[in-house]
Amino acid sequence: MVLKPPPRGGAAGAAAAAEQQLVAYLPWPLRDWEASHEHTEQRTKQHTLTADGDAVALAIVLPGEPSIEDRAIGDLTLILTSAAHAQVAVGWVLHPDFQGQGYAREAAAALLDLAAGLGAHRIAATVDAANEPSLALCERLGMRKEATFHQDRHDQTGWRDTVIYALTAAEWLGRRVPAADTTTTAGAH
Ligand SMILES: CC(C)(COP(=O)(O)OP(=O)(O)OC[C@H]1O[C@@H](n2cnc3c(N)ncnc32)[C@H](O)[C@@H]1OP(=O)(O)O)[C@@H](O)C(=O)NCCC(=O)NCCS
Repeated sequence: MVLKPPPRGGAAGAAAAAEQQLVAYLPWPLRDWEASHEHTEQRTKQHTLTADGDAVALAIVLPGEPSIEDRAIGDLTLILTSAAHAQVAVGWVLHPDFQGQGYAREAAAALLDLAAGLGAHRIAATVDAANEPSLALCERLGMRKEATFHQDRHDQTGWRDTVIYALTAAEWLGRRVPAADTTTTAGAH
């Protein structure tokens, strides 16, 4: 697996297609393909994390996988939430065809490595309380459940709860979860 800036075209298109099926727990509206593609393109334009709110998107790519060539199977987001306090937030989206195989965990582990390498002090994830796969991913990464906000958001389905997971970079580097799960032989990636 490789993480890289999503190239214009194929990777952005793949991520955009995935978006349409994956927005249930994301703070994104359901977009048609064109709007979704444009949104992905916009997200890939940022290459630096300098000011609060800056966000960098990285494509998750499986090199040498002939059936999907070099298209993205999902993407990651790294957001600088506070430069002064070295705070970052992470996010992840995986195309449904590639879920349940450990790819998100592998990619997220690399993202936490990147965040730590860039000098982040604390890494947080904001997750809808009903988003079981994302909550499970946070747990697998060893992130700490720090807060649950009860009915802090409202959408077309009603009031929603939000869970905050986090860990410090030192904690991550100290008890880093191996990207490849050596306890299982499934999906040798
Ligand atoms: C959140 C999301 C990225 C999680 O993806 P995922 O594929 O479930 O996560 P993982 O990579 O950790 O995979 C874990 C599953 O793969 C299985 N697996 C299979 N082979 C594996 C391997 N070699 N290594 C690790 N896990 C493996 C695990 O057993 C686990 O299965 P389970 O869910 O039945 O317990 C995905 O559900 C998603 O894109 N959701 C929509 C977008 C979204 O909501 N994003 C989050 C916003 S906060």
